[in-house]
Amino acid sequence: MTAPLLEVGNLTKYFTLNSDMVSRIAGKTKTLKAVDDISFAIKAGETLGLVGESGCGKSTTGRLITRLIEPTAGTIRLKGEDMLSFDNARMRSVRKDVQLVFQDPYSSLNPRKTIMQILARPLEIHGLADGWRAKRERVLELLNLVGLGVEHIDRYPHEFSGGQRQRIAIARALSVDPELVIGDEPVSALDVSVQAQILNLLRELQEKFSLTYLFIAHDLSVVRHISDRVAVMYVGKIVESGPVEEIFARPQHPYTKALMAAVPEADPDKPAPKLTLHGEIATPIDPPPGCRLCKRCPIATPNCDTDPPPLREVAPNHFVACHNI
Ligand SMILES: Nc1ncnc2c1ncn2[C@@H]1O[C@H](COP(=O)(O)OP(=O)(O)OP(=O)(O)O)[C@@H](O)[C@H]1O
Ligand SMILES: [Mg+2]
Repeated sequence: MTAPLLEVGNLTKYFTLNSDMVSRIAGKTKTLKAVDDISFAIKAGETLGLVGESGCGKSTTGRLITRLIEPTAGTIRLKGEDMLSFDNARMRSVRKDVQLVFQDPYSSLNPRKTIMQILARPLEIHGLADGWRAKRERVLELLNLVGLGVEHIDRYPHEFSGGQRQRIAIARALSVDPELVIGDEPVSALDVSVQAQILNLLRELQEKFSLTYLFIAHDLSVVRHISDRVAVMYVGKIVESGPVEEIFARPQHPYTKALMAAVPEADPDKPAPKLTLHGEIATPIDPPPGCRLCKRCPIATPNCDTDPPPLREVAPNHFVACHNI
């Protein structure tokens, strides 16, 4: 069997808060467990949707995989190779293979550069086009790929709509022929109708270039039509993962069922199990040792407070971290 394109093992990122000398002496240092021992793999050509509420650690996971930040512990393997052992030179060439598309296309494009300059820059950095003519040709090709044209090439980012700007950000990510594209809420800032267009575009491009996606969103319905598998995060932990149809038809974890409440019903005759949680999302700062949902969970038992529930396979490829399922 071939190795997955991306394999993340026990990935962990803790941030130390109040780490100054005075707080340390006073014992006031706190640990924010942004990503806490998560594992998943993505096969080539597959899309994994990573879903969860604000602050659960989705962006931190994306930033760890691109090595914008370094993990506290864990492994990241790209095509079987340990990415964390790569030196700077190796990492520069790997940066090309793993591209990030951010949520906000307003701040991710330099307002003082034209689209030609923005899209030509990665080609220059990675030596992918020689001379002005070759660069312009490649930039035009990229614009066409994302549904824009020659009339857009000399314009500045502020002259575009949000959807068009996200198309430019996608073109920039594709300019270096990546293998893995991490979309960090790439449609969350867009109107619903534009969201559908961008999701369709991402799907078309995936097919055309055999791309692999890690697609981050806070809303389950956004990942439904683009993902092969879904992983649900709550306060730094993956609480459930499985094939997309299975997660939507038979969500098992109380937190997934709660997220499901916001998803419009696809088939009213077969409503998906739903649940309402009470209280606020738990804090990732010095969290208690057990299940992070336990204070809000309607099926919690006393052991949930103290014992962290491991992910168990409840159906083929369907994993749930809950003591009471
Ligand atoms: N550099 C940092 N220093 C301290 N804490 C951080 C840092 N970066 C992120 N965090 C914290 O880590 C947690 C996870 O943040 P992250 O941005 O990964 O969440 P998210 O799931 O992407 O949320 P959102 O849906 O709002 O984008 C949050 O509590 C955040 O405040
Ligand atoms: Mg985020």
